[in-house]
Amino acid sequence: MNQFDQRLYAILKDGAQTGEILRFVEAAAPGPAEAFAYKWQRSPTFGLDSSTSAAMIQWTMDTLGHASEAAFAEHLAGAGTILDAGCGNGRVAVRAAALNPEALIVGMDVTDAVDAAARNGQGLDNLRLVQADLMSPPFKPASFDYIMSIGVLHHTRNTREAFDSMVRLMAPGGSFAFYIYKQKAPIREFADDYLRRTIRTMAPAEAWAEMERLSLFGKALSDIDAKVTVPAVPSLGIEAGEHDVQRLIYYTMLKCYWRDEWSLEENAHINFDWYYPEFAHRHTAEEVRDWIALWPELREVDFIDAPAGMTFRVVRDKTSPPTPS
Ligand SMILES: C[S@@+](CC[C@H](N)C(=O)[O-])C[C@H]1O[C@@H](n2cnc3c(N)ncnc32)[C@H](O)[C@@H]1O
Repeated sequence: MNQFDQRLYAILKDGAQTGEILRFVEAAAPGPAEAFAYKWQRSPTFGLDSSTSAAMIQWTMDTLGHASEAAFAEHLAGAGTILDAGCGNGRVAVRAAALNPEALIVGMDVTDAVDAAARNGQGLDNLRLVQADLMSPPFKPASFDYIMSIGVLHHTRNTREAFDSMVRLMAPGGSFAFYIYKQKAPIREFADDYLRRTIRTMAPAEAWAEMERLSLFGKALSDIDAKVTVPAVPSLGIEAGEHDVQRLIYYTMLKCYWRDEWSLEENAHINFDWYYPEFAHRHTAEEVRDWIALWPELREVDFIDAPAGMTFRVVRDKTSPPTPS
């Protein structure tokens, strides 16, 4: 057992299994995250391959509020134990492990995407993968100095309970950065729910094909490369001024992602990721602040407001009493 295994076994609850990937859920058990199992099987290297990594790293750094990966590494420097909750194929956990060779990085996902993460992180001595549900994580309370969860908590049955579950894992003085979806303009909210309900009835491959068509719809709008000047329509969340037509439709009416530099498959991945999961709750910043306020030992230290979602980083008081399990 090397020092990273020792550190991992020190924070695992009793009854931990052994093996290259520690599994606490059935690999094939159906559940709310089933859509992701299909997505990661289909795109196991998304965000790590030469076509998508630069844009995804940039997005992740913007989302976490770091100017560069070097700044991210500096931010993590004092953390000995780091958790990526809902790590998917490990695209961020792998980078974090490479950037912080002294820290133990644990990637946790409820699906067998952890297998792809293990392949993507091959050779990284300090990366460990755990297949588990973040609603009942297999770790002792207060185990992690830094927790990140990017685009995950809102895909569970209850975002606030998922948040609470992660807070329990924060070590005194530790921090927790999470990105969740935010509530959008009313037509966009309606279209999101309508389309999710519709494609949820399809088999994954059929839903993916529909998402390819939606991506091509986005491409057609993007190809016209036109701008419109509109008055404010506050009841629809439309702001006055000049807008790119595709962006205006995207943010206020219908998500139909398209990025010219990516293939149809890569664009469809983004739309599938949005529409196919069973749960994709959207929240307001006020709601999240109410959840934070229920933990007196937490302090909000960063807030990043982006068009599709928001990132919070909270820090746990250094002298806070032990977290109840
Ligand atoms: C949108 S993906 C984001 C993956 C990764 N954080 C990233 O930024 O690339 C959401 C991930 O959360 C995982 N997930 C959803 N519910 C989960 C749960 N209850 N416990 C652990 N992972 C979960 C899914 O399997 C999926 O891999």
